[in-house]
Amino acid sequence: MTTLPNTPVHWPAEAIWEAVAPLLPGFTVEVLPEIDSTNSELMRRFKGGPGRAPQPEPLLLVAEQQSAGRGRLGRAWQSQRGDSLTFSLGLPLQPLDWSGLSLAIGISLAESLEPPPAGQAHPTGAPRIGLKWPNDLWLSTAQGERKLAGILVETANGDGLRYVVIGIGVNIRPVALDALSEAALAGAAVPPGCLQELHPDMDAAQALWRIVPALVQTVQAFEQFGFAPFQARFAARDALAGRAVQLSDGTQGTAHGVSDSGALRVHTAAGMVEVSSSEVSVRPQAGAPAAAARNGLPC
Ligand code: BTN
Repeated sequence: MTTLPNTPVHWPAEAIWEAVAPLLPGFTVEVLPEIDSTNSELMRRFKGGPGRAPQPEPLLLVAEQQSAGRGRLGRAWQSQRGDSLTFSLGLPLQPLDWSGLSLAIGISLAESLEPPPAGQAHPTGAPRIGLKWPNDLWLSTAQGERKLAGILVETANGDGLRYVVIGIGVNIRPVALDALSEAALAGAAVPPGCLQELHPDMDAAQALWRIVPALVQTVQAFEQFGFAPFQARFAARDALAGRAVQLSDGTQGTAHGVSDSGALRVHTAAGMVEVSSSEVSVRPQAGAPAAAARNGLPC
C-alpha cells in the first residue's frame, strides 16, 4: 500500500505509548498537524515560561509538518507533509559521559529501518543504510550514497536535571517537484534518498513505530553503559571507513572507524588523530558518484 499525497496518516500513538511507558514512567505521545520545529517546541516546554510550568517529563512529539525545521550547524531541515517523518523525543538523561550519544541514536535508527540478520552484522553484502559520522544516515543504491535521515541532539539544564531532545527527520518518499523544491534542489548533485526506495510500502507512521521503542531502549542502554558497547555496531555500517575524507579545517586523511567514545579516527599526514567535532566530507575518487549530503526534501 503506497500512501497517496494528503491521505490522513494513522499514527500508532497508543501502541507506541504502550510499548514505551513501562520503560519511561510519565511518558506521553503527542502528534501535531504543524509546529515550527519539534526540537524547539520540546525545549520551550522543558524550560516553561510565563504562565507555563516547565515540563521535564519524557515526551514524543511528532509533527506532520514543520514550518521551521532545524538541522545541525544552524542549517534548515525542509520537509513536506506525508513525505517525511519528523519527530523529537525529549527526556531527562544522566549518562556519565555524553560522547557518542548521537552515534548510538544513528545505529538504533539504521538497525530499526534495516535490521541486521539475526541481530548480527550483515554476513553477506553491505547494509544499504550506512552511518556517516557523526550522525547522518546514508542510503546506498545504484545511484550512489544519498542522505536518508538526520539527527539533531540538543540538551538543556533545569531543575537540577539535564534534559535531552533527540530530533529525527527521515525522508520517506519522493515528492513531486514544484517551483520551490526545484529551487531548493539547485546546486545539489543528487537528490537525497528516501525510505520507500528500500521499503516501498512503508509510510511515516510505520517508520515511527519501527523506530521509537528501540530508540528508547538504545538511549537507556547508552545512559547506563556509554558508547563503547555500540562501537562494533557502528563499524558494521560505517560509511566512511577506509575512505579519503576532509575535515572542516581542511585536514585530509583516511577514515579509520570510531573510538570507544565515538570520536572519528582519521589517519592524516601528521599521524592518527581522533576528531570529536567537525564536518567531514568524503573526497571524491575518480569516477565515483558524489554523495549527496543536502538536508531534507525531496528524494
Ligand atoms: C541534520 O541532519 O542536520 C539533522 C536534521 C534533524 C531534523 C529533525 S526533524 C525533527 C526535529 N525537529 C527539527 O527542527 N529538527 C529535527
